[in-house]
Amino acid sequence: MNNLTNEIDRRRTFAIISHPDAGKTTLTEKLLVFGNVIRSAGTVKGKKSGKFATSDWMEIEKKRGISVTSSVMSFEYMDRHINILDTPGHEDFSEDTYRTLTAVDSAVMIIDCTKGVEPQTIKLFKVCRMRGIPIFTFINKLDREGKEPLELLEEIEEVLGIESYAMNWPVGMGKRFLGVYDRYNEVFIRWQGKEEEQHIPFSELDDVKEISEHPTFVQAKDDFELLEEAGNDFSIEKVKNGLQTPVFFGSAIANFGVEMFFRTFIDLANEPQPRQTVAESVKPQSEQFSGFIFKIQANMNPAHRDRLAFLRVCSGVFERGMTVKVSRTDKAIKLTQSQQFLASDRETVEHAYPGDIIGIYDPGVYQIGDSLYSGNQQVEFDEIPTFAPELFVKVTAKNVMKGKQFGKGITQLVQEGAIQLYRQYGTDDYILGAVGQLQLDVFEYRMKGEYNVEVVYQMIGSKIPRWLEDQKVDTNLFDSRNMLVKDRNGDYVALFDNDFSLRWFQDKNPKIKLIDIMAQD
Ligand code: G4P
Repeated sequence: MNNLTNEIDRRRTFAIISHPDAGKTTLTEKLLVFGNVIRSAGTVKGKKSGKFATSDWMEIEKKRGISVTSSVMSFEYMDRHINILDTPGHEDFSEDTYRTLTAVDSAVMIIDCTKGVEPQTIKLFKVCRMRGIPIFTFINKLDREGKEPLELLEEIEEVLGIESYAMNWPVGMGKRFLGVYDRYNEVFIRWQGKEEEQHIPFSELDDVKEISEHPTFVQAKDDFELLEEAGNDFSIEKVKNGLQTPVFFGSAIANFGVEMFFRTFIDLANEPQPRQTVAESVKPQSEQFSGFIFKIQANMNPAHRDRLAFLRVCSGVFERGMTVKVSRTDKAIKLTQSQQFLASDRETVEHAYPGDIIGIYDPGVYQIGDSLYSGNQQVEFDEIPTFAPELFVKVTAKNVMKGKQFGKGITQLVQEGAIQLYRQYGTDDYILGAVGQLQLDVFEYRMKGEYNVEVVYQMIGSKIPRWLEDQKVDTNLFDSRNMLVKDRNGDYVALFDNDFSLRWFQDKNPKIKLIDIMAQD
């Protein structure tokens, strides 16, 4: 096996998706401990412990405690090279959160057993689904009384519409929790309180009578047998294509079932996958270097106006100082300043392989979705999809004299992918669309900091955008409750107040085809 193939095979690039508070930070910390990047848990989280990395990122990030250095975490574990991409939640939810999912080969979905499938998980799940990537489920907080395991599996299947396969089965929960029956590795993992696990092979389980004859165990075994008979069969093919999710039960905080989960995950998860271009599919093993930009982090240092572009390597080997071409502009550029993200530090990277994420200095030449390649054969990857915004505001410059700067700032920030811009039909007002409040805050901050323009927002609020298939629509059908706007390509988009007004409109106008861009396969 040559070196490139070997490096590709040992890479696992994934994101952890969950609703806030399900335990993503806690689980990530445990993984970092396994990888020896941190010695103890509690060092990652910025907000609560106040230990966020000292860096000169933009003020707004400091205020919110978002640590950009932790947006990609790389480490070695059991001879694998692990790249974890962060998908910020809460009010930090932005289009970047979605775009990050275009740069991974698999995802880990955390579900809190006391809550089940929650809204933000559904949104992120849909994006993974669109890409057909494998999704591994970790049902967390088994040390608490939660929903019944069978109910949780049913919820995953019904709400998310994906087959589930329990890799292990919990025996009790909360105070009654005895451990998990690991059907994949054929061991019973015994719960002994915090940070301790005892592994009992199935063949020896009958000898441990305090477990095998425990009423909770007997009950769990009944449920489990039901699942064996009526549940889905495990299919690695389905898992690799995102059609079945292997489900693990455990407790992140107690570090229970986490390592077994992680080992199984890295065994089964996809290595870096080929990537589709407009013409063909690029294999990671190809000698030619290629990659694409999925995120641009602006203004880390306001004095220099520099930006960092996050590049996912798709094929070949990245070497620092190499000259590449940007597909969109056909311009050659030498990549001298490049960084890799090792847990809490950014380090200059000399080499990177498919599946790796590197940060490259952006003097203002990149856009989200740009393809970079070496050699003469042009590579142009498929576009990164546009994600439907949920939050809309009307925006104007506070000082009308600043119109020119305002226009310039908006154009540049929209091009960069920081926010989506629409124009109201009829009035031509500027309307911004974002998937979370953070995007609006960042826009406001950057307009002031970089273009010296103070903006005024007039809230339009949450809306459900639907693109109109037919551009020759009767514009009189729209009013303030279903506002009509045009996107940056000039296509009509109707913004509905809520599900009710959407259905009402659709019932009245069945011939008008409304497109939900988040529901496309
Ligand atoms: P997030 O990144 O997904 O938002 O979640 P995070 O890891 O911060 O966890 C949210 C809360 O859930 C934290 O408690 C955390 O300690 C707790 N938690 C995580 N895993 C488990 C688990 O396996 N069992 C139980 N019982 N709790 C768990 P907190 O009180 O909000 O914060 P903290 O003060 O403990 O940091």
